[in-house]
Amino acid sequence: MNDLIENNTKIITEALTDPVQTDGRQAEALIRVPCRHNPRLQSVVDAVNEDRALHALWRCANINAVDRLGISDHGRVHVQIVANVALRLLRLLVEGGVQPSVVRHHGLEDADAEVIVFLASMLHDVGIAIHRDRHEELSPILAAPRLSAILAQIPDYDVERTTIISSEVLHAIVAHARDAQPLTLEAGIVKVSDALDMAKGRSRIPLECGKVNIHSISAAAVERVVITRGDGKPVRVEVQMNNSAGIFQVGELLKGKLDNSGLAEHLEVVANVQAEAEKRLIPLFRL
Ligand SMILES: [Fe+2]
Repeated sequence: MNDLIENNTKIITEALTDPVQTDGRQAEALIRVPCRHNPRLQSVVDAVNEDRALHALWRCANINAVDRLGISDHGRVHVQIVANVALRLLRLLVEGGVQPSVVRHHGLEDADAEVIVFLASMLHDVGIAIHRDRHEELSPILAAPRLSAILAQIPDYDVERTTIISSEVLHAIVAHARDAQPLTLEAGIVKVSDALDMAKGRSRIPLECGKVNIHSISAAAVERVVITRGDGKPVRVEVQMNNSAGIFQVGELLKGKLDNSGLAEHLEVVANVQAEAEKRLIPLFRL
């Protein structure tokens, strides 16, 4: 498990340094997540990487988000970060004794829960290719045919399992809206993972270009998000920041998503100000 988590950290770091592109080269880039212990997930990742329509959808979503609306990346780099964070959260939660909903309610396996959080991460924002407004409800229109195409290539999945996996993925997509209630552990994980793509100015809030305000200053203050095994809870999320202004991202924005994720009881969230030059107003902010 530890090597999985180490690899995960490496992939998240690499994804953060991967430039966002909207030219043809992006189509060549592959999604990478640690999955060698889960052959079923490996097959799904391979099918995603072969799916040219899905890669095109990520480019369409980012043209609306970045080029037309001036907000942060919602394309391939974003979904790769979300998928890596989601798999890490899921593995730590399972290790901590928390049972995925697809195991509890459908009798499937932990390996299938990994497939669900991975596919929901890949597909949650494709609706932005139609419009950002209420994109959580638009994504299933474009996600459903991609799910059918991808899952048809997985030998382990018969029609019943394909239907269950698809339903759970579509639920997680719809439930990632701020006001929607996730009914599964997997959906809660995707919702929180989406919000945790916040390092190095990548916050999910719509940044107003060139404006200095609490949104832009706090987004720029977040340096890293470190996810480890917790002491009292299965997971500890540490948001490292170079300025106390970053606490706005944690106290106002992340807290809103966490409170409506169903995961709050399993996650310990701390914000740590690490700047040497800044006068520390508080040593540690605990949510
Ligand atoms: Fe997202």
